[in-house]
Amino acid sequence: MKIVVKIGGSILDQDPRPIAQDVKALIERGEKLVLVHGGAKMVTEIAEKMGKEQRFVTSVSGFRSRYTDKETAEIYTMVIGGLLNKQIVAALFREGISGVGLSGIDGKIFKAERKEKIKIKEGGKVLIVDGDYTGRVVEVNAQLVNSLVEAGYVPIIGSVAIGEKGEFLNIDGDRAAASLAGAIKSDVIIFLTDVAGVLEEGKVLRNLSAEEAEKLIERIEGGMRRKVFAALEALRAGVGKAIIASGLRPQPITEALREEECTVIKQ
Ligand SMILES: Nc1ncnc2c1ncn2[C@@H]1O[C@H](COP(=O)(O)OP(=O)(O)OP(=O)(O)O)[C@@H](O)[C@H]1O
Ligand SMILES: [Mg+2]
Repeated sequence: MKIVVKIGGSILDQDPRPIAQDVKALIERGEKLVLVHGGAKMVTEIAEKMGKEQRFVTSVSGFRSRYTDKETAEIYTMVIGGLLNKQIVAALFREGISGVGLSGIDGKIFKAERKEKIKIKEGGKVLIVDGDYTGRVVEVNAQLVNSLVEAGYVPIIGSVAIGEKGEFLNIDGDRAAASLAGAIKSDVIIFLTDVAGVLEEGKVLRNLSAEEAEKLIERIEGGMRRKVFAALEALRAGVGKAIIASGLRPQPITEALREEECTVIKQ
């Protein structure tokens, strides 16, 4: 079975061992894994250390996101394509797994369309802001990722992208993982995050149809809203199942595959 696992930036500051050990166990069982990760939290930390103030905006569709100028896009590339990515490679190495860490820029794994101008809401007004370096994935190099998997490596892809003109672009990690999962014809996509799944009144919603998830989007907020949106994109791209689960338990991937205490979304 082919499995794409998106590791949330929200859990990247935790001990990576449980995930690495779980990857090992799954590989030994013959599963094929591809890891995708974000890392917005560390980007903010490093940017602050570099004296680069970060600005956050709310889009007209209600998504809160970072305003990414050129320098911030470069910090993204440094952090997500660099240290964070290699920390995951090292964690797998310690378990005897050959991870190949790449960013979406390498081999055009994530080619994106730059948004340039973004429409934001500020104090009840709609403003158009330019100079933004965020993008939407339009093409995935499935062949490169598949060939690494076939050769026995675990690809670890940092979610930054390359634009038409060779620009570094900040992309949504969940949606990038969803498009990758679709492109490589993954059987399942698992979003590991810092909560057990989609919560409503403190309870995990265990099973959702695509239709139910679509309706739910209106009622949820923040990072989880993006995740459900990405999960639906993955299903539309042909992925069989999308699972949102906690990445903070002993065998996070195995337990998600067993559909224990997590949200499973199917067509
Ligand atoms: N209904 C909901 N159910 C569960 N989580 C929710 C809900 N509404 C909002 N959230 C928030 O969504 C968060 C998960 O998304 P978030 O984007 O923060 O994490 P991530 O995707 O794992 O990390 P990153 O975006 O840094 O890669 C939860 O920690 C929670 O605060
Ligand atoms: Mg997120």
